[in-house]
Amino acid sequence: MILTEYISVLQEKIMQARQEEKTIVLIPTMGFLHEGHLSMVNTVRQDDEDCEKICIVMSIFVNPLQFGPREDFEQYPRNLARDVQLAQQAGVDLLFVPSVQEMYPEEKTLTTVNVEGVTEGLCGDSRPGHFSGVATVVAKLFNIVLPDAAFFGQKDYQQYIVIKKMVKDLNMPLKVYAVPTVREADGLAMSSRNAYLTPAERKQAPVLYQALQEAQALITEGERNPETVRQNMMNKITAETTGEIDYVEIRSAENLSPVKTIRRKIVIALAVRLGNTRLIDNIIVEV
Ligand code: PAJ
Repeated sequence: MILTEYISVLQEKIMQARQEEKTIVLIPTMGFLHEGHLSMVNTVRQDDEDCEKICIVMSIFVNPLQFGPREDFEQYPRNLARDVQLAQQAGVDLLFVPSVQEMYPEEKTLTTVNVEGVTEGLCGDSRPGHFSGVATVVAKLFNIVLPDAAFFGQKDYQQYIVIKKMVKDLNMPLKVYAVPTVREADGLAMSSRNAYLTPAERKQAPVLYQALQEAQALITEGERNPETVRQNMMNKITAETTGEIDYVEIRSAENLSPVKTIRRKIVIALAVRLGNTRLIDNIIVEV
């Protein structure tokens, strides 16, 4: 594995891989790697029969542009030495770990990417500017790496939809894939931010996935009113945790538009603040 913090070095190595006719796959992350991040690497390696023909580029960059002024940019967990080991073991070929200066050399970024519509509601409401920061940094990474494909996690479902829309609207020449959410044994979705949870909060955290599973069961049993399902979930979360609900929403899985009746493919998404930690999770249900 080659590790670099420089765009020029990365691009030189990618050019070599291209000359060897390798497919370039990008996996953007903010580091503090866990099984969720690594499952994207495993998926790429497993999906391909001829492993030697793929060059996996992983980026680790805690992107200041996607954090609000009162959010956790400074405290976001970082452990580069451990990440380097995990990335290497998983089979990453090029690990790109730029500094803020390398990604944003100008004092102020005057060009940003704003995706409308799908950024409204859900995390878009409680994190103004967040998806613009995400879309901008991902667009920059796409332009730096020029990947044939990029991988994202279903865990951040709205983010995945935002990136898909950006790629489609701007004719970016790559394929975008999502991998299923990787969970702890008790169901909690893996997240770098789980490191913030106190032991008491960690004990309550699996209730979020339980609420999603109960919602899915209700729908399987025939419930079609999104409001009933939402209420059920909110009651459970309120009764069984000390968390503060940011949102519980049921949307079209296709384009995140609100639904009046549950049909076809929907996403049930939630964000709950447990102490100082904001946890998100979702489940896709097809009826
Ligand atoms: P980060 O939170 O580090 O996540 C990097 C990628 O890993 C995202 O695509 C995310 O959806 C995926 N991921 C996180 N937890 C996962 C889990 N439990 N199972 C499966 N996939 C999981 O998301 C970001 O970073 C940033 O916004 C980024 C896209 C890198 C732009 O800065």
